Amino acid sequence: MKRFSLAVLPGDGIGPEVTSEAVRVLQAAADLFGFVIDTREYAIGAAGVAQAGESLPPDTRDGVTDADAVLLGAVGDPSLSQAEGKRRPEAGLLALRKLLCAYANLRPVAVHPALRHASPLRPERLEGVDLLIVRELTGGLYYGEPRGREAHGAVNTLRYSVEEIERVARVAFEAARERRRLVTSVDKANVLEVSQLWRETVSRVAPDYPDVQLEHLYVDFAAMRLVSSPAAFDVVLTENLFGDILSDEAAVLAGSLGLLPSASIGDGPGLFEPVHGSAPDIAGRGIANPIGAIASAAMLLRYGFRLPEAATTVEQAIGAVLAAGARTADIAAGATRTLSTREIGEAIARLVLRGRAAEPVIER
Ligand code: IPM
Ligand code: MN
Repeated sequence: MKRFSLAVLPGDGIGPEVTSEAVRVLQAAADLFGFVIDTREYAIGAAGVAQAGESLPPDTRDGVTDADAVLLGAVGDPSLSQAEGKRRPEAGLLALRKLLCAYANLRPVAVHPALRHASPLRPERLEGVDLLIVRELTGGLYYGEPRGREAHGAVNTLRYSVEEIERVARVAFEAARERRRLVTSVDKANVLEVSQLWRETVSRVAPDYPDVQLEHLYVDFAAMRLVSSPAAFDVVLTENLFGDILSDEAAVLAGSLGLLPSASIGDGPGLFEPVHGSAPDIAGRGIANPIGAIASAAMLLRYGFRLPEAATTVEQAIGAVLAAGARTADIAAGATRTLSTREIGEAIARLVLRGRAAEPVIER
């Protein structure tokens, strides 16, 4: 039997709640397809600070580099918002991405037909929306040196090397080949030298993918088009900070940030995490939407364990459960009853266990 090792980093806030549902669904897929997942839990974020005094403790670092894949919940805690250095929860996440060389962050955004009314955008505008944001994840302003506070100011540095741009561009072109063969590269080349290099480098790589069309957009215009004609996008390729901002914006299309998954891939074990944050305001109440985490688990099956069939089974189960009307509070407008985090996780896991053609049974 195939065996995989999985490092689970529940993190902070709603992280632990949504992560346990993702693990539940992964175990159901393992049962159905006959493989074994050995899970081990490690602390990150505020949980790491509480356990070991730093947001990415040494044990966690060792555990993730030894694993076949890493599943993460969320990091962030209001009590540490003023913390500095290694005690900042977010610093743990950034150090983790760097440690895993997870330079390409894939954030797919699709609109489930049953959720067209969950978005504030007009339903007809959402017709055909199916895009993939490929966000550069280990460079740019998030990591550039020098950085820091100065006597009467502060500084961050935006720097990209040709190699950093090229490798993430190749991920985007490859992804486009499996999709509608359009890459939209997003930059601010009318102002920033880094963006000029970005544009040149992406254009230089493009001829290696003659079957894929490339267009360039400025980030301000891209932000507008993401809500005015979102169906026009296929693969959106962009740098770290622009990708962070555009992916939250794109979440509006899907209806809730709680639905969106991500996969961060590169030269080490893949890192899989929902796009949402730790949502401290609703943590511990069992009402968080686990679908972003469960869909991240599906990406883990596809890109981490290379089990595309198992991944598709989980994705179909998510779709079926939504089609059957299962809703957490964030997408509940008009629903007769809202389900808890756990109830959604169990419904999806049951469906996965019963195989791909099954119909969901959801108590009302
Ligand atoms: C994300 C988050 C993180 C980021 C934060 C928590 C550091 O917003 O994954 O999008 O900015 O990358
Ligand atoms: Mn973000």
